Amino acid sequence: MAAVIRVEALERVYRIGPVSVPALRGLDFAVPAGQMVAIMGPSGSGKSTLLNLLGCLDRPTAGRYFLAGDDVAHKSSDELAEVRNRRIGFVFQNYNLLPQLTAFENVELPLVYGRVGRAERHRRADEALAAVGLADRRRHHPMELSGGQQQRVGIARAIVGRPDVILADEPTGNLDSVSGNDVLQLFHALHEGGSTIVIVTHDEEVARHCQRIIRLHDGQLVRDDEAPARNLTATGEEAEPC
Ligand SMILES: Nc1ncnc2c1ncn2[C@@H]1O[C@H](COP(=O)(O)OP(=O)(O)OP(=O)(O)O)[C@@H](O)[C@H]1O
Ligand SMILES: [Mg+2]
Repeated sequence: MAAVIRVEALERVYRIGPVSVPALRGLDFAVPAGQMVAIMGPSGSGKSTLLNLLGCLDRPTAGRYFLAGDDVAHKSSDELAEVRNRRIGFVFQNYNLLPQLTAFENVELPLVYGRVGRAERHRRADEALAAVGLADRRRHHPMELSGGQQQRVGIARAIVGRPDVILADEPTGNLDSVSGNDVLQLFHALHEGGSTIVIVTHDEEVARHCQRIIRLHDGQLVRDDEAPARNLTATGEEAEPC
């Protein structure tokens, strides 16, 4: 199957004055369409750095990155903004919603930037809010929503542009276990619907829902495990073998 993500010898060195911090030291892997992957590893191992590169929020110091076959490592900032808008849905640990906008307006925003017409925008934003179970909260501002609900708005915003890949950095990190589980079930449903998803997480429970776990240590890929043929239901129960 075609790889949605492919990185080759990917490196990122942060330079602060005379000090160089090699955060990623030559990563090679590919993620096929439809896979749900967890990225794990100790603090400082390079997980967020990797996700920011995959999300075109940052550029590698060396190496190549192909997103849906397109070489994006050397694009200009404007081109990267376009790639982000059209191809990537990013879910943040702290939601990153705009406080002055309603849930609906937050979800609609990527389509405004993407110059999608008004009627189509409204239809798709409503559809995305319904998909995360928040149709009845469309006029609420982030402050008027719980953390779990804010994160669901964040997920609606990530999927509204029908991206090639959904990237999430510790999406349950700020949530209690009940809201965290709701969010996890949403990712599970998106995966069942065919989405390609990469989740950075410290949480073994989140990773348990993924088909594959990539482990980083000191900026290097140290393990890459395809999950054993587990068949979890949306609630995390073992399903009956087919
Ligand atoms: N903007 C930056 N400038 C300089 N160094 C940075 C920057 N961001 C990260 N680093 C360094 O790069 C390395 C990897 O950091 P990164 O944030 O990717 O780790 P992480 O695996 O996401 O950790 P955590 O689990 O704590 O979120 C660390 O040594 C960190 O100090
Ligand atoms: Mg991090």
